[in-house]
Amino acid sequence: MAHTRKHTASVVFGLRCLLILLSSHGIYGTATDILCLKRIYNSFKDPNGYLNVTWNFNNKTEGAICRFNGIECWHPDESRVLNIKLADMGLEGQFPLGIENCTSLTGLDLSGNNLNGSLPTNISKYIEFVTELDLSNNDFSGPIPENLANCSYLNGLHLDHNQFSGQIPLEFGTLSRINSFSVANNNLTGPVPKFRFSISKDSYANNPGLCGEVLSSCPSQSKIHPGVIAGGAAGGLTLIIILTGIAFFYISKMKIIRRKVLDPEGNRWAKSMKGTKAVKVSMFEKTVSKMSLEDLMKATNSFSNYNMIGSGRMGAMYKATMSDGTILTVKRLQDSQRTEKEFMSEMNTLGSVKHQNLVPLLGYCVAKKERFLVYKYMANGNLFNWLHPSDPEEAKSLEWPVRLKIAIGAAKGLAWMHHNCNPRILHRNISSKCILLDEEFDPRLSDFGLARLMNPIDTHLSTFVNGEFGDFGYVAPEYARTLVATPKGDVFSFGTVLLELITGEKPTKVSNAPETFKGSLVEWIALLSENNDLHSAIDKSLLDKGVDNELSQFLKVACNCVSPTPKERPTMFEVYQLLRAIGENYHFTAEDEIMIATETSDAGFPSELIVAQE
Ligand SMILES: *[C@@H]1O[C@H](CO)[C@@H](O)[C@H](O)[C@H]1NC(C)=O
Ligand SMILES: *[C@@H]1O[C@H](CO)[C@@H](O)[C@H](O)[C@H]1NC(C)=O
Ligand SMILES: *[C@@H]1O[C@H](CO)[C@@H](O)[C@H](O)[C@H]1NC(C)=O
Ligand SMILES: *[C@@H]1O[C@H](CO)[C@@H](O)[C@H](O)[C@H]1NC(C)=O
Ligand SMILES: *[C@@H]1O[C@H](CO)[C@@H](O)[C@H](O)[C@H]1NC(C)=O
Ligand SMILES: *[C@@H]1O[C@H](CO)[C@@H](O)[C@H](O)[C@H]1NC(C)=O
Ligand SMILES: *[C@@H]1O[C@H](CO)[C@@H](O)[C@H](O)[C@H]1NC(C)=O
Repeated sequence: MAHTRKHTASVVFGLRCLLILLSSHGIYGTATDILCLKRIYNSFKDPNGYLNVTWNFNNKTEGAICRFNGIECWHPDESRVLNIKLADMGLEGQFPLGIENCTSLTGLDLSGNNLNGSLPTNISKYIEFVTELDLSNNDFSGPIPENLANCSYLNGLHLDHNQFSGQIPLEFGTLSRINSFSVANNNLTGPVPKFRFSISKDSYANNPGLCGEVLSSCPSQSKIHPGVIAGGAAGGLTLIIILTGIAFFYISKMKIIRRKVLDPEGNRWAKSMKGTKAVKVSMFEKTVSKMSLEDLMKATNSFSNYNMIGSGRMGAMYKATMSDGTILTVKRLQDSQRTEKEFMSEMNTLGSVKHQNLVPLLGYCVAKKERFLVYKYMANGNLFNWLHPSDPEEAKSLEWPVRLKIAIGAAKGLAWMHHNCNPRILHRNISSKCILLDEEFDPRLSDFGLARLMNPIDTHLSTFVNGEFGDFGYVAPEYARTLVATPKGDVFSFGTVLLELITGEKPTKVSNAPETFKGSLVEWIALLSENNDLHSAIDKSLLDKGVDNELSQFLKVACNCVSPTPKERPTMFEVYQLLRAIGENYHFTAEDEIMIATETSDAGFPSELIVAQE
């Protein structure tokens, strides 16, 4: 146990480091990332016109660059570039120096183009946080810069099929995270580095004079003992853990069939799905018509970015219009650490979880490394977009009764997951973005149960990063200390959603607070509460309509949910009952919808899901 705690402490420390690292560089991403892409665009010749159709810099909407061909953002509505994937586009030019302005970049794939010239000797300054660098199949020449060894987050480095000459820097042996390296088909000589993973000879094939390690030993006079690795070993657990986390963001590169593709709108990874199109989508309901991956591809225009309706830490969601006119939502999961068997078993569990306030999972599909989930389509999108539209006037269209109905329904769904489902399901990712709204504005939770499909550490890390770091957004404070997901953690996140509903403010940025206030919505509420001024937090458009009493009660429930002490927070069952009482006069819950908490203790539940009581 002591050991575990120490381990956890390191994880937290590691996360903090990363947050500081990324936030100091990334949080003001917008202007600089746009400049980055402009500079890259201007520095390349694009004879096949892959970029000029979608790379439209006149669209000033936040997140417009995320629809550019080959660009993946941290969040689709935020112009902060996560990965640049411009493989096989016939681009001409040199290594794009503009990349230095993409300050949150974690992956760069320029493979299969006609880029030439040498790499900058200070290349690590340009791609400091990159975990995957693929420059293979180009005409780069000159030495491989030893400064690349300073890109300490690198997992994969692919420089094969170029004209690099000279020696491979032995410092690469200090890269603690690297697990894939290739320099085949270049003009390299001399000893090869001693890596910590077992590298195949093929990674060095077709070079005129490489030797050492897995290759034949070097001529004695040039024998260099690679003692360099000792220093790097001190990097320690912390670093390794950070790196493990970062690795998550790299959507592992699939073997791209090197073929020119002409539809600039379809996604490149989707093209590589050729040969798997006949794969059947497994449906949970026999009544739903049979479909194959090909149908899904057709329905989403090959998972075109134009069909993307959202994306989060679990993966991107696409609107799929089937040939019979039915509309579905298809979620493409981010790299899951689970085996196919574990995935299937998890799917069959989730497929049987049914409640009127959860988005129905209709089916799933596994093809090569890709995993897709098929959900019912929710016509009114997510709550976040209703509460925080780009035009603030629109937000007012969500009247109080509708907000209350949404709160009650969502609380009911979550309470059901916590108290009526055996084994209990923790959501772990509650936010206004995962509360979807149907035609009637009845709320349905999405993304439940998916956190378990991911690697636990990675999932936490991405919570921090995606959840807009600095103040942790929806994440309960004890989560950062313990990294244990608990029902009370869900209650905290849900409380944040309640605060969003009643204040109309975003969880991380409070527009009504004084300029000097830099904290989160929860912190702002705490401050107002200290000053006995909670009432001023309420969305002005809701006041003076005869419901002020309901508003005060609602705000009180929200405040209890976000109490810093988990013990002081109500259970989801209690939250549901409290909200239901506030909304009694509206008769939202007509039928016999009284929920009974079937279990009140943690007895009988798998230890993984048990709350660590403070
Ligand atoms: C782009 O990067 C250069 C070099 O680091 C820097 O001087 C410039 O300020 C950056 N531009 C923006 C808009 O951040
Ligand atoms: C894009 O580039 C291609 C090839 O250079 C050209 O034929 C096409 O007209 C360009 N389209 C636009 C919108 O600029
Ligand atoms: C600008 O980008 C936004 C977000 O990507 C998109 O919804 C909108 O349609 C675009 N506008 C134009 C004129 O292309
Ligand atoms: C790079 O290729 C272009 C033609 O695509 C050529 O004009 C230029 O001289 C090449 N530069 C180098 C450094 O080889
Ligand atoms: C890399 O070095 C060159 C000169 O050697 C310098 O002009 C450039 O600013 C440096 N780039 C960065 C990102 O530090
Ligand atoms: C890495 O960076 C450090 C300091 O930032 C510098 O002293 C060192 O020379 C760099 N290493 C390489 C291989 O460029
Ligand atoms: C290979 O590298 C050597 C120097 O290391 C150079 O003399 C030779 O021209 C290079 N060959 C090619 C094809 O680039």
